[in-house]
Amino acid sequence: MSTLVVVGAQWGDEGKGKVVDVLAADAQIVARFAGGNNAGHTLVVDGKQIVTHLVPSGCHYPGTLCVLGAGMVIDPDVFQAEVAELQSHGLLLRDELRVSLGAHLILPFHRVLDGLREDRASASDNQIGTTRRGVGPAYESKAARRGIRVRDLYEPARLRERLEQCKAALDPEFERFGSSIRVEVDDLVERGKRWGAWMERWVCDVGALCQTAIDSGHRLLFEGAQGAMLDLDHGTYPFVTSSSATAGGVCPGIGIGPTAIHRVWGITKAYTTRVGAGPFPTRLDGPQGKALRDAGHEYGATTGRPRDCGWLDLPALKYSARINGLTGLCVTKLDVLADLPEVEICVAYEDGLVPGTDDLGRVRPVLEKVPGWGDPDLARRLRAARSLAEVPAPVRGYLDFIADRVGVPIVLASVGPGRAQTISLAEPF
Ligand code: IMP
Repeated sequence: MSTLVVVGAQWGDEGKGKVVDVLAADAQIVARFAGGNNAGHTLVVDGKQIVTHLVPSGCHYPGTLCVLGAGMVIDPDVFQAEVAELQSHGLLLRDELRVSLGAHLILPFHRVLDGLREDRASASDNQIGTTRRGVGPAYESKAARRGIRVRDLYEPARLRERLEQCKAALDPEFERFGSSIRVEVDDLVERGKRWGAWMERWVCDVGALCQTAIDSGHRLLFEGAQGAMLDLDHGTYPFVTSSSATAGGVCPGIGIGPTAIHRVWGITKAYTTRVGAGPFPTRLDGPQGKALRDAGHEYGATTGRPRDCGWLDLPALKYSARINGLTGLCVTKLDVLADLPEVEICVAYEDGLVPGTDDLGRVRPVLEKVPGWGDPDLARRLRAARSLAEVPAPVRGYLDFIADRVGVPIVLASVGPGRAQTISLAEPF
């Protein structure tokens, strides 16, 4: 088995960065297939905290190829800064990057538009709560067939033509906002040349690269961004991101077919968090939510926004297992729950409602108390566990309950932020 897709099974921020970082040790290629620098992966390596927004989490392994696929939107300024920072930490020094010719660019006007629209929406209480990184407007340009792709950086005439199209479409919107921002075609053509020259040694047909690697028996890890419930098609629309956050997105987002995928692992926290607006059935308001946020340090890696917190939502997880075709579940941040005096879990929604409908905003969760938690010694023993046998019994019971209800085996459990605090229960490849 040579390909593994790893996706967020909730609303993003499930700890994919750490899990992918651990699993990437066995991979020759780690590739991202969707999203942009709305994602933020916090990794703790040798006690040092590093956040990546575009480069896949495999960047810590010298020689492992880090691939940015066609389904991504790449802000070249952010990309340059991130590569410089990673290189200053001694990473990516062996030319380990590859960038799809088909990936789209987030340009400065996309970024400004995202912010202006969010500001206007917040005034009318209609906010999505985007990360304001220009991700949505860049995907919009893509769908409108005037987006700027990496390959256009090497075709100045086409680059100019696309920018003119963006200008015709977007300058009137900037005007309506009373903004002095305009799509500056000449300036962007010039900057485009510099961006193109800078990334030229990495750009290629990523689909062909990955397919050749698969055919050669190499191990490839496809890293999702955000989470299934933020998926453009299957998430809590319109409170979603603008790309495919589910496993199927790998095929268009890389340029390989579905038969090339062997395993799909979903990451879930032991509880649930969400940033931005939109339905969240198990959200805990008041002191319980705050206790969970404090215990789990739940603040966005990209925007620093506090995340809303709540109990694990099994109906949502089961839905996620279906739309992703999960073959394994990775449960992260178990140690955070162990710090709490009591733990509950959502086993159903009242009135038999199910995820995947517009009703998610009004469902009421059916909660059960999880037995055996609240022991002051539990967190210490759990954080020290390095095998399933060492995991305290109530936590094992919790994991069994999740696997049983969702119908997907637990393949990995994370009991702390460090790489070593990871219990592997199945081979990734
Ligand atoms: P956008 O992706 O910036 O357009 O934001 C759309 C929605 O997705 C907002 O609710 C964001 O908070 C959410 N979102 C985007 N990226 C992430 C992420 O990496 N983690 C969690 N939420 C995200």
